[in-house]
Amino acid sequence: MSEQHHDVYPVRDDIAANAWADKAEYAAMYQRSIDDPEGFWAEQAKRLDWIKAPTKIKNTSFDRDNVDIRWFEDGELNVAANCLDRHLEIRGGDTAIIWEGDDPAESCHITYAELYDRTNQLANALKEMGIGKGDTVTLYMPMIPEAAVAMLACARIGAVHSVIFGGFSPDAIAQRVIGAQSKLVITADESVRGGKHVPLKDNVDAALTREGTEVCEEVLVVKRTGGDIDWHEGRDVWYHEMVDKQAMACPAEAMNAEDPLFILYTSGSTGAPKGLKHTTGGYLTYAAMTHQYVFDYHEGDVYWCTADVGWVTGHSYIVYGPLANGATTLMFEGVPTYPTHGRMGEIVDKHKVNILYTAPTAIRAFMAHGDSVMDSSSRDSLRLLGTVGEPINPEAWEWFYRVMGKKRCPIVDTWWQTENGGIMIAPLPGATPLKPGSATKPFFGVQPAIMDSEGQQLEGEAEGNLVILDSWPGQARSIWGDHARFVSTYFSTYDGVYFTGDGCRRDADGDYWITGRVDDVLNISGHRMGTAEIESAMVAHAAVAEAAVVGYPHDIKGQGIYIYVTLGDDVEPTDELKKELTQQVRKEIGPIASPDIIQWAPSLPKTRSGKIMRRILRKIAANECDGLGDTSTLADPSVVDELIEHRVNR
Ligand code: WT7
Repeated sequence: MSEQHHDVYPVRDDIAANAWADKAEYAAMYQRSIDDPEGFWAEQAKRLDWIKAPTKIKNTSFDRDNVDIRWFEDGELNVAANCLDRHLEIRGGDTAIIWEGDDPAESCHITYAELYDRTNQLANALKEMGIGKGDTVTLYMPMIPEAAVAMLACARIGAVHSVIFGGFSPDAIAQRVIGAQSKLVITADESVRGGKHVPLKDNVDAALTREGTEVCEEVLVVKRTGGDIDWHEGRDVWYHEMVDKQAMACPAEAMNAEDPLFILYTSGSTGAPKGLKHTTGGYLTYAAMTHQYVFDYHEGDVYWCTADVGWVTGHSYIVYGPLANGATTLMFEGVPTYPTHGRMGEIVDKHKVNILYTAPTAIRAFMAHGDSVMDSSSRDSLRLLGTVGEPINPEAWEWFYRVMGKKRCPIVDTWWQTENGGIMIAPLPGATPLKPGSATKPFFGVQPAIMDSEGQQLEGEAEGNLVILDSWPGQARSIWGDHARFVSTYFSTYDGVYFTGDGCRRDADGDYWITGRVDDVLNISGHRMGTAEIESAMVAHAAVAEAAVVGYPHDIKGQGIYIYVTLGDDVEPTDELKKELTQQVRKEIGPIASPDIIQWAPSLPKTRSGKIMRRILRKIAANECDGLGDTSTLADPSVVDELIEHRVNR
């Protein structure tokens, strides 16, 4: 195995001195979390306000015949009360959310007291609209405070939210509204990103014409831009008209710890996107604790996570974790490179951000413009940096460290997944020496292990598939409406453990290096896309006989989408058709799934049993045409030469 040699950045003494955990504390706490999970998590649960304190702590089984995950199962609490009510007395006047608009001239501060009032008003409005405990509400919203308010208002009355990222198409919205059986969609007229308006309401209108969406009876519309929209009398309701008249008090519903808090859809290697079900007590305990320890969050810090609330990172680390901890969380409407490539640094200066959590793809986008892109800001307020979403290449890590953080700020490279609810593998700033490209060590209660393809657990230095041996409180409990799929996706590859879908190497120091997905899931700019989903969008076009989608290395996005398309008989392969097929994917899934490269493929390399050999397609897409390995099992090996000859990425 090739050991990669990079610098190790030791823990800074000044950071260790003030951190929640130094090296010895991390080691002792980690050991305890594994030896005595019940005792450890019983104590951690005390960070929340419980209506009824839990006495049963952990009751979990990864046995494939009985996958059943419960934490704090006899406890009762309310997530919104934990994020709002309990802070009022001590910090009601402190800023909960700093909102920074797409336009640098627009920003505002919302205190905990104001957020409480707004949440309660919306909660009362939801009740008036007939939404109650256990109902599902779909959110398709811009990055505006109302998105956080909507999540919290649902939590307050026990409704289950399902947030859809604003880059998804009407078809994708329809699929998710149907999957969650949502009676209500909350949206806005338009969102604003990078100076452009995105027609959210139009997309919802189109989605709700699809068969099966009749379940959705009402659409609550925030007026963000005042742009032109169609109005469906009897179905559409203006947010401000509904909410402004409501009382500012709304009792928080007592929820069982295992009642669902939210559904969040994510892509897998096969089939339609899965709605992961996250519950109440364990999720919030884990989101709050990881936010405190991994970001070494201290009272008064200004914290900024650049994710969108449409992803789990936005759920756990813009809204729930920070607000549970009484933090000031910055919410940014726009894109990090608008109006200038230095915007991220400018926002840091403007709001004196101390902790900045972002994605490798954003860092690479800055890097492409040279060090001077950050000249417009000092970033002197920064103390800590974090990344998430995909493996960070050491060059991007070094750039982030040197330029963004001016060699003063530790970087926490955080590995986790939608399914996990919170950070799983990451350094703790006061405890863990940093290695560019390594997510380093497991969080408390997390037991990673590496398996070979035969299901043998590998010890010591090793490379293989990453699994987690036992449950942690933030874990998703199921796939909404399809527990069998939950079991088969995560607990059937290996017996009795959670399979992550990621490859991983553990070095001699016990540090973990995530190597990327081992299944047919792509990671495009940190966004998860299933190859099967994109293929089915392609073949839905009449001209397409067959399509195969693979990822290829992309300088900024990490991975790009490369599609091999076999056309039907007598269809002309034209550039015009390529554009149409691109439109087709954007329509079925959304702009985030836009193909980067389409190659016409007279036929695809298949085994004699008809299985497409993706290994070969990946190599050709990566322009690595030497050493394609054994092609003798192909039904027609000459197919490969033709694809190589016409490869597009070279
Ligand atoms: C997949 C999960 C929850 C975070 C946002 C993405 C990849 C995520 C890292 C990292 C290497 C990473 C993995 C994982 N990933 N963070 N720090 N280093 N890979 O959540 O959409 O559920 O995707 O993102 O491949 O399986 P997601």
